[in-house]
Amino acid sequence: MKMSRVLGAAAAAVGAVAVRDLTQKKHALRRNFPVIAHARYLLEEIGPELRQYIVTGNDEERPFSRDQRRWIYASSKSENNYFGFGTDCDTEHTPGYAIIKHRTFSAVAPPAPVHHAPDVVVPSAKVLGGPRGRTKAFRPGSVVNISGMSFGSMSASAITALNRGAAMAGCLHNTGEGGLSPYHREGGDLVLQLGTAYFGCRDEHGRFDLARLTDLAASAPVRAIEIKLSQGAKPGLGGLLPAAKVTPEIAEIRGIPVGVDCASPARHTAFSDVDSMLDFVELIAAETGLPVGIKSAVGAMDFWDELVAQMAKGDRGVDFVTIDGGEGGTGAAPLIFTDSVALPLRMALSRVYGRFADAGLTDQLTFIASGKCGVPDNAVVAFALGADMVNVAREAMLSIGCIQSQRCHTDRCPTGVATQDRWLARGLDPASKSVRCANYLRALRKELLAVSEAVGVAHPGLITPDDVDILCGDYEARGLGSVYGYKDGWGSLGAALQEEITELMLTESR
Ligand SMILES: Cc1cc2nc3c(=O)[nH]c(=O)nc-3n(C[C@H](O)[C@H](O)[C@H](O)COP(=O)(O)O)c2cc1C
Ligand code: SF4
Repeated sequence: MKMSRVLGAAAAAVGAVAVRDLTQKKHALRRNFPVIAHARYLLEEIGPELRQYIVTGNDEERPFSRDQRRWIYASSKSENNYFGFGTDCDTEHTPGYAIIKHRTFSAVAPPAPVHHAPDVVVPSAKVLGGPRGRTKAFRPGSVVNISGMSFGSMSASAITALNRGAAMAGCLHNTGEGGLSPYHREGGDLVLQLGTAYFGCRDEHGRFDLARLTDLAASAPVRAIEIKLSQGAKPGLGGLLPAAKVTPEIAEIRGIPVGVDCASPARHTAFSDVDSMLDFVELIAAETGLPVGIKSAVGAMDFWDELVAQMAKGDRGVDFVTIDGGEGGTGAAPLIFTDSVALPLRMALSRVYGRFADAGLTDQLTFIASGKCGVPDNAVVAFALGADMVNVAREAMLSIGCIQSQRCHTDRCPTGVATQDRWLARGLDPASKSVRCANYLRALRKELLAVSEAVGVAHPGLITPDDVDILCGDYEARGLGSVYGYKDGWGSLGAALQEEITELMLTESR
């Protein structure tokens, strides 16, 4: 009798926890996996103690280490994102470790640290589309923006959270190649991405349709157009959306028939070489007035040589290039592509930047870097190599609840981020997660500004290769520029741009 009473009380307690988990909106994992999700929180809590006896260290997990994720989670919850006791990175014995060099005195940085403000304004040092005179050229309000991730690979609630988060933090939100969905229309400014299937702006045969693109861009706060040539995690790989996944909603957004397999070719059909690509870019820019750029991973360099040669003539050109590192993310791809095709970001960016620098063209376009740039040290190195802005994808996913379970390809994402399963997606509450996304984006901006201040400059775009050393153990260090073959002055903005952004930042901080 006594026993059954105890069991009854235990069952009632578990029931109460289950009800509370199912009805709360803060934690997707608890909504989706009531009761058992608590085991994860418990493990997270006692993880550091357990790890002293078993398994991996704080910096071992990939793609994002436990420390990197902890920084993102704490930042997104506006919790204390500091770390105690000093670094646990093996800086003295890790070849390739990047060290940022602070300055003792500086003439340009503001006298009081500005990064302590609740939000900091860190606009791009360059006007997007300005050098080519696009009618809708603009200065992006944030050097940190959200990278392309389609509705389809991501859930409706995840896209909603990211878009609202982008609006709150004053960032741009890239639609990804899956078209412009209703969930992208929650107030955030957009970069509309055109993949090889031209979703949302294609005719019934799958060919690019300029009139549809113009209408689509005019129907939403689209600020720029990005032509996706390739993606670091799966460059040169076409895709197939199986018939079962082509729901009426996806079909409507993408402009394809319901319930029929839909192929994305490996290459574009609207152009076939650099010459015709630049015609395509100019056509879209003229028709929409918007800045137009390309996103690409980096492999063979003949494409870039040709692009620079054509742009050097001055009559045609892209407004921005987004360089995506081979270490970048994807919803799903073959292992050989994620692991072994396309250069990692630092090498990729430096090779492309170097081609433009040799031709004296770097001030004529904006360089955007992606590939784990949502953690501050990687972003700083990207800026030092010449990036003007960074795009973040998986780090933004982490900010809205992703736990790096790496099951995005199964449609069984436990946190409702990368799935079309309605039950799982319901666990992700866009209202609270959008705030977390915005908090994270602001925190990254703040850290970039804090590092700029330590280096003695007013803006991350003013950090140069001379400000970073690459260590080879504790016996040798080489300048970042020398490691990546940079000539004098490469990685720096032109004098006029330096003056302009310094003045802008100092005015902001007054
Ligand atoms: C779930 C998922 C979906 C993605 N979808 C796209 C896409 O539609 N278009 C694109 O250009 N890149 C896509 N990417 C790549 C990201 O935009 C980004 O370039 C890459 O993940 C590197 O950034 P990260 O290291 O900050 O994640 C996707 C990545 C993920 C994780
Ligand atoms: S499946 Fe795992 S890694 Fe992918 S989005 Fe969901 S929680 Fe993150």
